Amino acid sequence: MQIKSSIDELRASLAPLRGQRIALVPTMGNLHAGHISLVEYAHQQADMVMVSIFVNPLQFGPNEDFDHYPRTLEADAALLEPAGTDYVFAPQVKDLYPNGRDHTTVVQVPELNALLCGTARPGHFDGVSSVVARLFNAVQPDVAIFGKKDYQQLLVLKRMTEELLMPIDIIGLSTFREKDGLAMSSRNAYMTAKERQQAPHIYQTLQSMTQAIRAGRQDFTVLEQEHAARLSQLGFKPDYVAVRRKADLQPAQSGDQPEVLVVLIAAHLGKARLIDNLEVVEDLLEANDER
Ligand code: PAJ
Repeated sequence: MQIKSSIDELRASLAPLRGQRIALVPTMGNLHAGHISLVEYAHQQADMVMVSIFVNPLQFGPNEDFDHYPRTLEADAALLEPAGTDYVFAPQVKDLYPNGRDHTTVVQVPELNALLCGTARPGHFDGVSSVVARLFNAVQPDVAIFGKKDYQQLLVLKRMTEELLMPIDIIGLSTFREKDGLAMSSRNAYMTAKERQQAPHIYQTLQSMTQAIRAGRQDFTVLEQEHAARLSQLGFKPDYVAVRRKADLQPAQSGDQPEVLVVLIAAHLGKARLIDNLEVVEDLLEANDER
């Protein structure tokens, strides 16, 4: 496994490999088993696996945790090598934003960037699409792998890839969870032991809501309100508890079949902001070329 930090170095090492199927797994590092599941899948799908590690300043708001986000390159590299990674691309901020973050070209995916997490974190998805567009241009992968854990992010990136005519298959993989159901996340470490015990209520709420919808409930707004109230009672501060259409994250309408719906939650618990979601009927795999 080789680690590259400059774009020139990266391009020089990729040049002789063109023609092979290249998979890219973009990350911000501080890797856990959820990230590694994406890398293992990439290893099965492609001839060459590139993992990028870059804490992207553009996707953090002014009062968010950019400065404190854990940077653990050595430990990350130790997990990546046995999972089948060929190259790690770990650029510096100046490599991707040579003119500084306030003077840089931005890629915006309208509508999808403004809903749900986009309301609570204005500009966040513009930062995500702007960095992933750069990573796609630097690496020029055939396939890129993302987690459904960040469901809205996956949709934003699929839409960007499609609209900018980037010849890249976007694959979304199921969320990797702790034994008690909590979705793995680098930010879980922000919780106290007591909060960590409460945290699985998010997944339990998702299960309860998806089960109710499969059993026929169609009063989606009431269902959302009931479950948001329950989470508040348990000490969470929900940003949203939402039943949405998988295709465009618009609110579910009565008459919508369970197969087209996903339930999404974002809630604060102490210092942590937890996000999670569950498709009402789970798709095993989604690729943009399957739509
Ligand atoms: P990061 O939070 O490091 O996540 C990298 C990838 O891992 C994302 O595709 C995310 O959805 C996936 N992932 C995170 N937790 C997961 C879990 N428990 N199970 C399965 N997959 C999981 O998402 C980002 O970084 C950034 O926004 C990025 C796309 C790299 C752009 O900066």
